[in-house]
Amino acid sequence: EMDLITQAKQSAAYQAIDNHVKNGQALGIGSGSTIVFAINRLAERVQEENLNVVCVPTSFQSKQLLTEKGLAVSDLERTPSLDVAIDGADEVDKDLNLIKGGGAACTQEKIVASCAKYFVVIADHRKDSKLLGEQWKKGVPIEVIPMGYVPVIRAIEKKLGGKAELRMGANKAGPVVTDNGNFILDWKFDETKDWKKVNMEISMIPGVVETGLFIDMAQRAYFGMPDGSVTFRE
Ligand code: A5P
Repeated sequence: EMDLITQAKQSAAYQAIDNHVKNGQALGIGSGSTIVFAINRLAERVQEENLNVVCVPTSFQSKQLLTEKGLAVSDLERTPSLDVAIDGADEVDKDLNLIKGGGAACTQEKIVASCAKYFVVIADHRKDSKLLGEQWKKGVPIEVIPMGYVPVIRAIEKKLGGKAELRMGANKAGPVVTDNGNFILDWKFDETKDWKKVNMEISMIPGVVETGLFIDMAQRAYFGMPDGSVTFRE
């Protein structure tokens, strides 16, 4: 028995794979819990339709899932140009700006998405919001170089206000370490911002690797709804 949120994630993921994947493509495959359903559906279609597609993962998690499913895995050295990238999001605003990085994979996710001609987001309806920060209350994830995390926190709070915190491990004493060996800050902001400007300002602080703000990157977002239907926005 699947609960309604899980069902909504699956419906959105299936719809995106069915609408956007074609034979011969190079695909970017994101991270998180929703992408698991996309990988499952992709594996089904590859089997049934004998598709020839190659996948560039955005994390260890997605690389492992793709490998387990027997899908062809590549990387940006061999496959720097992608037809479509598909990924989840923590929040999607009305202009398809995103907060990502809840799973600490935002840097690789942003690089992979930036290599795609078309970037599709898949999510359950809880991720849909008018303004960033309306739904996702954990703040904007920011990947930082470990030795610089305190100066980065200070610079963010001084320049932009709010509060930035080092993300701590759930089953580990000490911080979460990303696939790139870095730390993650979660920056809780208190008011609506000019996200493009905020993203640039944070990105310029020495020690910041990448932010979880994806501004003007996504072309379409699919949302699984509580009644089992899927809507999209572009
Ligand atoms: C990983 O770092 C994130 O950006 C995920 O893509 C995002 O958190 C979505 O995850 P879910 O599909 O689990 O909601």
